[in-house]
Amino acid sequence: MIKGYQYFSAFLDLRAQKSLVADLREIIVAAPLYTPTMPVSGRPFSVKMTNAGSLGWVSDKSGYRYQPLHPVSGRPWPAIPSDLMDIWREVSQCQMDPQACLINYYGNGAKMGSHVDKDEETFEAPVVSISLGDDAVFHVGGLKRADAKTRIVLKSGDVVVLGGLARLAYHGIDRIKAGTSDLLQEGGRFNLTLRRVTRS
Ligand code: SIN
Ligand code: FE2
Repeated sequence: MIKGYQYFSAFLDLRAQKSLVADLREIIVAAPLYTPTMPVSGRPFSVKMTNAGSLGWVSDKSGYRYQPLHPVSGRPWPAIPSDLMDIWREVSQCQMDPQACLINYYGNGAKMGSHVDKDEETFEAPVVSISLGDDAVFHVGGLKRADAKTRIVLKSGDVVVLGGLARLAYHGIDRIKAGTSDLLQEGGRFNLTLRRVTRS
């Protein structure tokens, strides 16, 4: 496994997971999930997205970027909830606060192709990823797309940190195992990723 990858199995107990779901419900009222589109082709993503934080990650025909406003409503993203800030402080070993929390919702058949998180200005801070809901088959590889991949089943309450060398490692979600969790009444999976975007 590439250096800087950390996996915290069952980091969040059921109570903490439920509290994050309650946070998510509020965020989604203020900043509804929407379907982003791929650069150039304009093809829709299979996941739905929204963000919290001063900056949010978006994708559309003109490319990937961070921006302060929701692309559909034109309103600022809601603040990152304090329990997420606490998780960041516990696991990131980073003095700077996160600026973006990308929220991905995986419904029926959704997945995330192998990619590197590289739209940030700095890679000093790790990416902290939190899983809620159905199990997901996650893969992490190396710095090159062709490098060997390790597959891990991420369960609700698991936390992954991509720091160090792993900060720029290829990763993605092969599939969601529908019906493996009853945390979310609608089924599926939320993944929250906390990111630092700018230098201090
Ligand atoms: C991502 O890489 O943005 C999502 C990873 C995940 O869903 O666990
Ligand atoms: Fe990613």
